[in-house]
Amino acid sequence: QRLVRLLHEMPKAELHIHIEGSLEPELMFELAAKNGVALPYPDVEALRAAYAFHDLQSFLDIYYAGASVLLTADDFEAMTFAYFERAAADRVMHAEIFFDPQTHTARGVPLDTVFEGLTRACARAERSFGITSGLILCFLRHLSEEEAFSTLEQALPWRHQLLGVGLDSGERGNPPEKFARVFAKARALGLHLVAHAGEEGPAEYVRSALDVLHAERIDHGVRSIDDPELVQRLAREGIALTVCPLSNLKLRVFDRLSEHNLAVLLRQGVKVTVNSDDPAYFGGYITQNFVETFEALPQLGVDDAYMLARNSFEASFVSPERRRQMI
Ligand code: ADE
Ligand code: ZN
Repeated sequence: QRLVRLLHEMPKAELHIHIEGSLEPELMFELAAKNGVALPYPDVEALRAAYAFHDLQSFLDIYYAGASVLLTADDFEAMTFAYFERAAADRVMHAEIFFDPQTHTARGVPLDTVFEGLTRACARAERSFGITSGLILCFLRHLSEEEAFSTLEQALPWRHQLLGVGLDSGERGNPPEKFARVFAKARALGLHLVAHAGEEGPAEYVRSALDVLHAERIDHGVRSIDDPELVQRLAREGIALTVCPLSNLKLRVFDRLSEHNLAVLLRQGVKVTVNSDDPAYFGGYITQNFVETFEALPQLGVDDAYMLARNSFEASFVSPERRRQMI
């Protein structure tokens, strides 16, 4: 109906998309065959059937295995451009894209190959669809800070192609503090800073992402709800949360979408945005996230749709000029 059409057609920015999480099974099998990489599943159907997760780690195991088919710059370009085609159909005007370099360098894929493929796709998306984008290099938090430093060092020749750095992978037991020094280095380089926090981990990790890492946005952040004082602070300071409802459902952060706290956070004045996280694994791209969330939470209406879209532009790291163009 009218609301669904609005959710589909309204211009939006996507601020939380792991590009490796946009690798659809069909392309995964195609690249596996081309590159001679063996997958532990016989076909696309068997692979999709394995996408039944019970928590973040059970997803990450399959997600890192899936990325093993990516070997050449062309592979990274094909995956990334396929995401942009979906994003264009969903009326995404601007995307800030996460990538996990350590997943690839650990397999012997040079960082240059990753950057080359991603940047080619970003340039092509701007020419083809007018979508602007930026790349956010994520450190894997289950690895050491020393390894994060080495990754940042290797990325320095591509500094001008980087919008910022982020922090992802298994949250529990890997608090933001573990990466204080490497985030300080990235900050000194003038990079934007974001971090996953309060997805599976406690509200306390959201606080330390802000106070220790100086993160400008919090990815997920839904566990902030356990700390009312923190929710007030997020609202007061205008700190955006990049919420991913279908991800939260599939990774059992919430048992049902109708139990999701997105609307509660929004009503408390938090700058909430809606995003897709790993759409090839979680059953939907950004518009699907909007549509299913609005269906599950009947207190959300047209005004909220506009507010969520406006939040996505305001929380993005685009220049004020480009922002004026998009809204
Ligand atoms: N890497 C890809 N998706 C992720 C998520 N939802 N949380 C943490 N790390 C991730
Ligand atoms: Zn994520």
